[in-house]
Amino acid sequence: MEAKPLITQVYQPTEDAIRLAARVLREGGLVGMPTETVYGLAANALDENAVRAIFAAKGRPADNPLIVHVASPEDAEPLCHISDAARALMARFCPGPLTLLMPKKPTVPAVTNAGLPSVAIRIPSHPVCQQLLRVCRLPIAAPSANTSGKPSPTTAMHVYHDLKGKLPVILDGGECQVGLESTVIDMTGEIPTVVRPGGITPEMLLTVLPEVRVADSVLRPLQKGEKILSPGMMYTHYAPNGQLTMVRGAQANVERCCLQKYAEAKAAGRSVRILAFDEHLPAYRDAEALSIGRLSELETVSHRLFALLRELDDEGVELMYTEIPPAEGLGLAIMNRLSRAAGFRTIDADEE
Ligand code: TXA
Ligand code: MG
Repeated sequence: MEAKPLITQVYQPTEDAIRLAARVLREGGLVGMPTETVYGLAANALDENAVRAIFAAKGRPADNPLIVHVASPEDAEPLCHISDAARALMARFCPGPLTLLMPKKPTVPAVTNAGLPSVAIRIPSHPVCQQLLRVCRLPIAAPSANTSGKPSPTTAMHVYHDLKGKLPVILDGGECQVGLESTVIDMTGEIPTVVRPGGITPEMLLTVLPEVRVADSVLRPLQKGEKILSPGMMYTHYAPNGQLTMVRGAQANVERCCLQKYAEAKAAGRSVRILAFDEHLPAYRDAEALSIGRLSELETVSHRLFALLRELDDEGVELMYTEIPPAEGLGLAIMNRLSRAAGFRTIDADEE
């Protein structure tokens, strides 16, 4: 059933606006909520109808479970069984961009976590989100606040663009600092396993845990018959309308290859852009090249990546050739998102 369209208002996060948002949540409504990773589409995680409204607003399949957000580790106790290792992770990294999969308790309704034995718990650090959690005193279920198939929103305007008419309130907490969705780590098995890389890197996790595995599917497509660790990975991730290609290899070769592809596309009358790190932009000064941030400071890349992909779509760019970072540290999360946006399309510039 189609819900009646609502008037969507974007509010600066004053105390009054946060109280209003908390009331909407307590009454079973939806709120656009800033976090330090991406904006979330929030509802009371314990209210089945409110959670169903999230799936309807996003056009999200019901078998893709939601993350439950709480203000503190104590607030997670009623929802899940917390192991010693999970406690240690929370003590070190929460509040922050980390989501832990833990065995769920019966308080969490099956609609929220798609009937799985585990529930995803996250303690966001964004001050507006923390205040909202503390004022409404509810666990909040929230996926990224994009229409399924769009990049996750990193500004309140992205949320408005995708979901206006489907929720009454969006709190504007500014640009999301991290810019990529949280790291998801599965704590239910013998060895903790990263099923989605994010701002908390495997290297950082290893400062607390003796062993961390990274799921194979993080950097390649799911193979037929492979066990699915995170249902979100089954679904097609965002791909731009234009065709994105990753170019790897020695830097001089990457530059030559990007410029050659650019010239070929131009000659064929196509609209084309090169996406390059700031450090390398001078090499492309005669082409239309856009910054994807600084290679020496990958936080600048994660911060802007999704907004950049939205802009390229808005401009109707047909072809994009992008430089890529090494898949380590924060580079792992960036490569995970870029690979999916590119449909894993890669050119090896050393072999061109
Ligand atoms: O940074 C974030 O995590 C943002 C903000 C709003 O907190 N949220 C977010 O939610 O990215 P969403 O729904 O877009 O992505 C959650 C991912 C999905 O891939 C989902 O399948 C997976 O986490 N997930 C959630 N609960 C799970 C569970 N119990 N078992 C396995 N995977 C789970
Ligand atoms: Mg999402």
